[in-house]
Amino acid sequence: MKAFLMEEFKLDKNNIPKHVAIIMDGNGRWAKKKGELRIFGHTNGVGSVREALSAAGEIGVKFLTLYAFSSENWRRPKEETSALMDLLVQSIYNELDDLNSNGVKLATIGDVEVLPKSCQIALKKAIESTKSNKKITLILALSYSSRREISLAVQKMAQKVMNGQLEYTAINEDLISSYLSTANYPDPELLIRTSGENRVSNFLMWQLAYTELYFTKILWPDFKKKNFYKAIYDYQKRERRFGKTSEQLLNNDA
Ligand code: IPE
Ligand code: IPE
Ligand code: MG
Repeated sequence: MKAFLMEEFKLDKNNIPKHVAIIMDGNGRWAKKKGELRIFGHTNGVGSVREALSAAGEIGVKFLTLYAFSSENWRRPKEETSALMDLLVQSIYNELDDLNSNGVKLATIGDVEVLPKSCQIALKKAIESTKSNKKITLILALSYSSRREISLAVQKMAQKVMNGQLEYTAINEDLISSYLSTANYPDPELLIRTSGENRVSNFLMWQLAYTELYFTKILWPDFKKKNFYKAIYDYQKRERRFGKTSEQLLNNDA
């Protein structure tokens, strides 16, 4: 952990979120402002992924989930979705050595099986190659839809109930969480969304129940380490009450 960074951004090392999720938005508008095509924005967004990942690793965040492509994004023009898939493959191969030297374990959530074969191959290779890394887990949400994730979980539970493998009364919050693609990760304490849009866009809706939300107008390709630390600082100033009163928290009441 880099002590000077903690000091510069006045971060409390005892209050670092374990899991940060980011909706990386605004690539298209960033490119348009520069008179370029949308894909130019996506290409430049890769640099911000690197910044966010490295910033998160430096302060001890253990899980970073990035919304890279939603199920709804398939509605975009074919040229854009294909270019995004190509960019994904290229970025995985370009970054693989760095992921390994920085202790990053790669994982995905979403319908990876609907991605082009080349993406699936690159992802499989990178996941296998980084599987023993321990510093931070980078979870890419690809062709991800929270409602679909929840629907699939309900289907699986229903099937077990039908087969007599599960009592319907055993279905509770913990069990539902365990049927989601995020079963192995804690819920995010902080969600960041760039580009000034104040919505969730079908991202981690179950998991975000008590997450602190941080919205910034910065467009994703302009998002740098210092912006990540600012979001953490903002998070640390908040009081997470989980339904209790401030007084209860101060008195450490159970
Ligand atoms: C986010 O940037 C990247 C993806 C959704 C893949 P956008 O492409 O949504 O950029 P804007 O919102 O059009 O500016
Ligand atoms: C959300 O961004 C999905 C990703 C960042 C991958 P969008 O730009 O697609 O979201 P909406 O459609 O504007 O809500
Ligand atoms: Mg957008």
